[in-house]
Amino acid sequence: MTQINSTAEITFDADLTALNTLGIAAKAQKLIEITSVNQLKQLHKDGLFEKEQPFILGGGSNILLRRNISRTVLKISLVGITVLSEDERYALVDVSAGVNWHSLVEWAVENNFGGIENLALIPGTVGAAPIQNIGAYGVELKDVIESVTFFDLESGMNQTLTNRECIFGYRDSIFKNELKGKVIVTGICLKLTKPPHTVNSSYRSLSEFLQNKQITDPGIDDIFDAVVAIRESKLPNPNLIGNAGSFFKNPIVERTLFVALTDTFPDIPGYEVSKSQVKIPAGWLIEKAGWKGKKVGNVGTYKNQALVLVNYGGATGEELWNHALRIQKSVSETFGVELTPEVNIIE
Ligand code: EPU
Repeated sequence: MTQINSTAEITFDADLTALNTLGIAAKAQKLIEITSVNQLKQLHKDGLFEKEQPFILGGGSNILLRRNISRTVLKISLVGITVLSEDERYALVDVSAGVNWHSLVEWAVENNFGGIENLALIPGTVGAAPIQNIGAYGVELKDVIESVTFFDLESGMNQTLTNRECIFGYRDSIFKNELKGKVIVTGICLKLTKPPHTVNSSYRSLSEFLQNKQITDPGIDDIFDAVVAIRESKLPNPNLIGNAGSFFKNPIVERTLFVALTDTFPDIPGYEVSKSQVKIPAGWLIEKAGWKGKKVGNVGTYKNQALVLVNYGGATGEELWNHALRIQKSVSETFGVELTPEVNIIE
């Protein structure tokens, strides 16, 4: 380990197994841990970003490392949660990119700030959250985020974009498009509610869970507990079985295709996105194509949620990717629907 300035640490030939939740044993030629924005400014001054585009690593929960990484890997470990301002209805909260997302949700619920309780137990860090506009159980980050602050690799300056400027979409944002590879998210600002909160319990599995528990007027803590329980029952714990959550996006198809599919598959679920488009749960398509719970070598799909690809231990990135391709092909052949990865595939 070498020091590049007072705190930044460089590790050469770094093992990334513990830094990606799929548990792929890839290596990085050079890994630098970033604990302050000043370190980024220093690296910019040193000309690092002119020479190469670094690979930015947050919680490693939404990536598939296909092979070793020859670019410099920057592990973002900026931490801190600050309440910037409060009035009777809202609190504006600034959170640094390296904070663990679920710890932030716990902090919010403990402090009686509402808005992100439905997003409990999503793995990863705060900095990764706006990139794919994380969402679960009827809430998306875009519903509560005020702004995103990032470090511009070209200018070496910090910049802030408002919610609208981030162009959030379903698992999408400007950071996956125009700004891809050009910036490092350093923090986000959330607008959280103060009591009385308006909770969102409309997502089917969530409302069913609350009904079964006979909770008729849920508070944010009830929603939090319910989401944690549902996720724990459906999704594998990455500390036990390597996974990156949903591997594919839920495909959005033309209504005409959806209607045609209902002839052959009368039970196919679909959610209206617009007059002409329908979203189909990829988990259903994968299950119906026969892949749920199936193990091939060291990889497979999870027994309780077919959308989650898992590493049972010792899988290479290529092995997992080949499994994803097999599933993609099979779903395409069975339904004529193309699945696209939700996880970032790192070449
Ligand atoms: N389904 C199956 N078989 C399966 C899995 C799902 O038939 O093996 C069908 C069922 O009909 C079920 C429907 O799919 O009713 C929806 O399933 P679920 O509620 O588990 O949600 P999802 O659409 O599979 C999405 C997100 C998840 C998020 C959940 C809950 C995407 C790609 N995934 O999954 O997000 O937790 O909704 O809101 O949008 C993630 O992005 O990593 C992630 C886990």
